[in-house]
Amino acid sequence: MTELAPKPLQGKTVLVTGGARRLGRASALALAGAGADVAITFRDSLRDAQRTVIDVSGLGVRALALACDVTDEKSVKTAVKEAVRELGGIDILVNNAANYETATFEKLTLAQWDAMFASNTRGPFLVSREALKFLRLRRGKIINMGSLGGLRPWADHAHYCSSKAALHMLTKVLAKALAPEIAVNCVAPGMIDLGEKAAANFMRRMAKQTPMQRNGTSDDIAAAVLFFARAPHFITGQILAVDGGLGL
Ligand SMILES: NC(=O)c1ccc[n+]([C@@H]2O[C@H](COP(=O)([O-])OP(=O)(O)OC[C@H]3O[C@@H](n4cnc5c(N)ncnc54)[C@H](OP(=O)(O)O)[C@@H]3O)[C@@H](O)[C@H]2O)c1
Repeated sequence: MTELAPKPLQGKTVLVTGGARRLGRASALALAGAGADVAITFRDSLRDAQRTVIDVSGLGVRALALACDVTDEKSVKTAVKEAVRELGGIDILVNNAANYETATFEKLTLAQWDAMFASNTRGPFLVSREALKFLRLRRGKIINMGSLGGLRPWADHAHYCSSKAALHMLTKVLAKALAPEIAVNCVAPGMIDLGEKAAANFMRRMAKQTPMQRNGTSDDIAAAVLFFARAPHFITGQILAVDGGLGL
């Protein structure tokens, strides 16, 4: 008789923002694979969200998708309330939703700057604040999705890099402010190859520059999210670069 695989997150409930596609979906699936019930949020990707809910449910856990614009206070309040109503609470919040854009500094507009900070910094602030009382009740965790770009300066990404550096600092501030009930950590992905054809040449070049001689995969990032999800509360305030050594 084969033994059932251990489910370390069984009985836990996770909220993953922007979890319909790409890295958010991979994290949602990994957390569900470890036994957690999962709520994802989406903004535009309704079909992807529906597909992810079906795939997450297929792992034998409860799953739901909620529309949410993380820049909008009212929308965030509604989504968090709905997630708690449906799943009973929140043990782990993954602040994954974000935007990425390339822009030379001279041409960067005020609107671009503000939009980047609205999604990448204000979003995690708003969702964390709304989820706080539920996370406290469960002695929960917040996992922010930062970026190697928040640790290293990328010349054509002033707004993106600054927004992620701010999120890294928010991680550390919250780790201190919300202790001892809530552990707060951050995964900072480096170059992650999600198979986009347009990026193939760039990805080849980056793999050569990376000590591990390859780019990251969605599984590498999901594994880091799962690590923090399962980690002892004593691990808090950490920014974990998942970059194959590229930032060294
Ligand atoms: N991919 C990489 O190589 C890489 C590298 C470094 C860091 N990261 C970070 O890792 C995380 C996931 O990366 P990714 O490439 O999978 O992200 P992504 O595809 O750029 O974005 C993830 C999701 O964020 C949602 N989103 C954006 N703005 C939103 C808003 N205002 N309200 C609600 N949702 C919003 C979108 O949802 P809808 O599609 O539903 O609109 C999108 O699907 C992000 O925080 C990213 O910055 C990624």
